[in-house]
Amino acid sequence: MTQKMPGRRAREILVRNDRGGYTVPNGRVYPFQWNWDSAFVSLGFAAFDLERAWRELLTLFDGQWEDGFLPHIIFWKDDAGYFPGPAVWGTGRTPQTSGITQPPVAASAVRDLWERGDRTVFREQLEELFPKLLAWHKWFARVRDPLGNGLALIVHPWESGRDNSPEWDAASSRIDTSRVGSYERRDTSHIDQSMRPTKLDYDRYVALVQYGRSLGWDHERIGRGSPFRVVDIGTTMILLRANRDLLALAEALGRDEEAAELRHNIARAEAGVAWLWNDRVGAYCSRDIISGESTSMVTGASFLSFYAGLRNEARDRRLLAHLERIASRTKYLLPSLDPAHPAFDSIRYWRGPVWAVINYLVGRGLLEAGHKLWGEKVRSDTHALIQQAGMYEYFCPLTGKGVGGDDFSWTAAIWLHWCADHELSRGA
Ligand code: DGY
Repeated sequence: MTQKMPGRRAREILVRNDRGGYTVPNGRVYPFQWNWDSAFVSLGFAAFDLERAWRELLTLFDGQWEDGFLPHIIFWKDDAGYFPGPAVWGTGRTPQTSGITQPPVAASAVRDLWERGDRTVFREQLEELFPKLLAWHKWFARVRDPLGNGLALIVHPWESGRDNSPEWDAASSRIDTSRVGSYERRDTSHIDQSMRPTKLDYDRYVALVQYGRSLGWDHERIGRGSPFRVVDIGTTMILLRANRDLLALAEALGRDEEAAELRHNIARAEAGVAWLWNDRVGAYCSRDIISGESTSMVTGASFLSFYAGLRNEARDRRLLAHLERIASRTKYLLPSLDPAHPAFDSIRYWRGPVWAVINYLVGRGLLEAGHKLWGEKVRSDTHALIQQAGMYEYFCPLTGKGVGGDDFSWTAAIWLHWCADHELSRGA
């Protein structure tokens, strides 16, 4: 079934999911404000209401903690339809928030909004957001850079935004779930459980929430002692890119001191990523910091190095060879896991399905790096998936079927931001 007028439908979804200054990812499954979702959503709003686009990010940063930490959920209003709610997190903040973070896409979104508008009109918004973005990035450098080489540590699979990626399976086996107790999941009452994380995954997610809570959400201590500590390739690449975008904003505002610090952090991460390159596999892979082991898995996030601005001819050639191999086994790019991997599951969340937001980041990176054919293929596949199936949460890479929830804000946003002009150029 082909969707009629996806642009109009995408705008309707954003407007419907708008709760007044922030947008829920989806009214049923995710009824609050999520961190990286909001960054993508702002790009979608920018296609038709730039003022509202800035508002999304300003509201998100109203949930920031004094030390720069930006939570992954802000619970602006109560809603019993989600687990774990604010009482489980117990962060004791106003507004109520979770105690973990998510990939820092926000600075890149802000740069986008800034550069597309009349730069005099939104200067106030930029002036307000710049120090907040900087404080968050400094928090990563201070609390989540255990090797001091610019890479990003995560202490909960949800922090990666790619919740049940098989990358976290081995590291998660250290999590003790014996005292988790009983709880009621809400996600599986909205969505078929074959498309969601398993009960064991959830027990581990909850155990880590209980662990953070038991330490009063002291992030320094959690970063040193959590049973789950992985350097995530996705967060690392997104942070490197976000630092470059924040540097461009620092330069636009004439903040020389901050710009110098950002240049330093960028150079450190550019050298540091060598620790994540797995030469046997020929890809960047996440790495467990407790065991030192590379996950040795090629996931969608492995291809974010282009978006991060890394250029290395020999490595890029090997990554593109993986992309070509993966493309020959799937109908649509980019599956979240290499289909040759035994854990591949074409409909289970981050263990195989295609996600429009990752396609956007990877596709954009490939285009910027001059890999036009591959970048265009990722973009036209994203276009085809959304046009055929609708604004689904994710898509089966083998059939193109929409899976998870429908009417997803970030899928609608990617349509408006990245696919709609592609639609025009093809005369559709
Ligand atoms: C969930 O609840 O599934 C989210 O992805 C984590 O915030």
